[in-house]
Amino acid sequence: MQDINSVRQILIDKIATSNSPADVLKSPELKKLYSVIGTLPANERGAYGKSINDLKVEIQSAIDSRMDEIDNAAVEPLDVTAPFDINSSLIELMDTENGTKHPLIRELENVVDIFVRMGFEAIESRQIDDDKHMFESLNFPDNHPARDGYDTFRTEENFIPPAHTSTMQNRILSAGRDRLESGGQIAAVSYGRVFRNEDVDVTHEHTFYQCEGVFVSETASLGEMLGTLRSFFEAYYGQKLKIKTQPAYFPFVEPGLEFAIERPAVLGGKPGDWLEMLGCGMIHPNVLELAGIDSKKYRGFAWGGGVERLVMLKYGIEDLRHFESGKLQFLREFK
Ligand code: DAH
Repeated sequence: MQDINSVRQILIDKIATSNSPADVLKSPELKKLYSVIGTLPANERGAYGKSINDLKVEIQSAIDSRMDEIDNAAVEPLDVTAPFDINSSLIELMDTENGTKHPLIRELENVVDIFVRMGFEAIESRQIDDDKHMFESLNFPDNHPARDGYDTFRTEENFIPPAHTSTMQNRILSAGRDRLESGGQIAAVSYGRVFRNEDVDVTHEHTFYQCEGVFVSETASLGEMLGTLRSFFEAYYGQKLKIKTQPAYFPFVEPGLEFAIERPAVLGGKPGDWLEMLGCGMIHPNVLELAGIDSKKYRGFAWGGGVERLVMLKYGIEDLRHFESGKLQFLREFK
């Protein structure tokens, strides 16, 4: 009984200053008290057991009131304009835990990694750009209706938060021109955030991620492009896949295609369940020429598509809005 009293004091003191008071229930002092039960003569066990139970009830109510104290302190609003030390006592009381990478960033790194292993250079896409890169250099004539398809935001100064990672193509091509002329190739992916003035719903966000690829050589072909894309998708999903393409219009490629994969059975797919994954095609001669590349001598292919779509299929996520929601419950599933 002596022991129980001294343990009681130790635990109550611990609870009074702890920010996670429930941890006390796992303390070695308490465990030791339990282990004593087995060593007592049978006629003393009942009384001893009851004292431990009483102690537990007392500890639990001390924990509860300490938790209330912590909660009340933590709901006091942080003054974000105050010097750090004014808030630090509140911050200490908050239930902090180590953060992890956002699932989209982790998957984007995965995607980029696969292309890097295939020999592509990785370049982060800009988050602010101009009309030349977003449209003109990609063979979108002025006032062409194809521009409308991109629901582009503009700043008052007429800058553009890009609506696609294709905004990097002209830079990649111009920077690679010398390499081509000395017998090399251009092989690069650009990746990053893109922005569209869209109504948000289950499959549309105003802010999302894309990954784009560009390859130029003297002999680049559509067959090579399809092989590259198939290799990428099979690496990303870790299995053989069925692919198909159909014609599509993008001003910067000719021919332009939409590339689809069949949803794999392990991911809930049935035969004929085609999912359009990205746009691609042979780079339009005008796009090569606008970057100073001789379109009679060199050819290229390019592709670009959204990252969320890849990740949603991989993990069976049904609502695109989860990614930007900041919901911890969703994010913790990817720890
Ligand atoms: N930029 C296009 C989009 O966001 C996707 C795309 C299509 C990129 C064809 C390409 C391409 O590089 O060749 O809708």
